[in-house]
Amino acid sequence: MKKIGVLTSGGDAPGMNAAIRAVVRKGIYHHLGVYGIYYGYQGLIEGKIEKMELGTVGDIIQRGGTALFTSRSEEFKTEAGQEKAIEQLKKHGIEGLVVIGGDGSFRGASELTKKGFPCIGVPGTIDNDIPGTDFTIGFDTALNTVIQAVDKIRDTATSHERTYVIEVMGRDAGDLALWAGVAAGAESIVIPEKNEPVEAVVDRIKRGHERGKRHSIILVAEGVGSGVEYGKQIQELTNFETRVTVLGHTQRGGSPTAFDRVLASRLGAKAVDLLIEGKAGRMVGIQKNQLVDHDILEALNETHQPEMSMYQLSQELSI
Ligand code: F6P
Repeated sequence: MKKIGVLTSGGDAPGMNAAIRAVVRKGIYHHLGVYGIYYGYQGLIEGKIEKMELGTVGDIIQRGGTALFTSRSEEFKTEAGQEKAIEQLKKHGIEGLVVIGGDGSFRGASELTKKGFPCIGVPGTIDNDIPGTDFTIGFDTALNTVIQAVDKIRDTATSHERTYVIEVMGRDAGDLALWAGVAAGAESIVIPEKNEPVEAVVDRIKRGHERGKRHSIILVAEGVGSGVEYGKQIQELTNFETRVTVLGHTQRGGSPTAFDRVLASRLGAKAVDLLIEGKAGRMVGIQKNQLVDHDILEALNETHQPEMSMYQLSQELSI
């Protein structure tokens, strides 16, 4: 293998830049030509491809977002789109591709591999919802963003003696709400994997009230539904003044944490190793602090489950 490509696709995540840098530098270290593909799969179809040098990825390890830009391409989901993508790769003499993104991006990588083009997936999403890895790039940074916000909201919740419902991202997964809830000491965590009835949440708030606690923080994962609607229900059922904050895309930005930078550097470099070894259709991940790789499709066929012992812990600590 002499030339490889790298792209980021789907929702951006802090640490993607560190992963891009690792792919480029590790590739060049092994005397490969490395090509950056801009705007994800859509950019690949349109031939937005440029050779990367060591300096191209200088000064990006600390930046959020993705220097390669990203997109969610409908065209790439079609047979014709995928053929065009492969034509572009061949035109540039690229023989292997590293795809940094979430499950949709991995499905694309798997399609290209099935068509004979070797791809390796690097999990990058704040949702932490990719099976086959304990952590995805961006999750830790987003988690830190959420707890900073919750800490601030707690100040005003205490002062006004209010209940706060905070809606957290995660698509269908509750990881971000769950971890943030434990880290920020939320009174309740509502996640799709454990759809606790609203009545149980209300009981907990009322119990707290009876023993003199006048504020409550409830983290609601977006996969459960609208935080605004949830807040209305809580207000109605408790009669306590309730406010709602939707953290939204603030969770996707910001300088990556040390954890995400290191994870991204390790996973990006490992992806290049796999391409050099002639592997294809694999995803890299970290499990029990060891770098691992799995068949992409097999991994995607698994169901992601958050660490449910954390849920039990949160219940025990917020009695
Ligand atoms: O997958 C990352 C994510 O931020 C999810 O948590 C969220 O549901 C979705 O992307 C939002 O997508 P968009 O940025 O396209 O609105």
